[in-house]
Amino acid sequence: MIEDVSDRLTREHRRLDDLFGRFLGAARSGNADAALDAIREFDQALRRHTEEEEASVLAPPTGHKFAPSEAESAQERLHRELRLEHVQVREVSAMIRRLLEEKSDLGGASSLAGNLARRWDAHTAREERELFREP
Ligand SMILES: [Fe+2]
Ligand SMILES: [Fe+2]
Repeated sequence: MIEDVSDRLTREHRRLDDLFGRFLGAARSGNADAALDAIREFDQALRRHTEEEEASVLAPPTGHKFAPSEAESAQERLHRELRLEHVQVREVSAMIRRLLEEKSDLGGASSLAGNLARRWDAHTAREERELFREP
């Protein structure tokens, strides 16, 4: 991958980490308004970031949308799984956002935070380790 693109995407990962940290801090201190502001910003930045990766970094899906085609290469598999992880991360982020926007449910939002943190951390670590270092 072109180095300045992977550097920029890595910097965006850290910026998203910071936004998510802001959400966690606000949630822990019981500040629902600040938590909503932070998760909104995270959610928007997440959508922009993952859409760019899907449009210009990840190979187009092969075969069925998320199911493996026969004789899939290791690289095709990586790209397919990263796309699937995007769908999952965006879904949990959207759920947290909706809980706060529609119900001001800080408890519900907080209970999903660990799930999102684990998925996001695993996803970005995998991209930085495997995708951004692809030749
Ligand atoms: Fe990604
Ligand atoms: Fe990424």
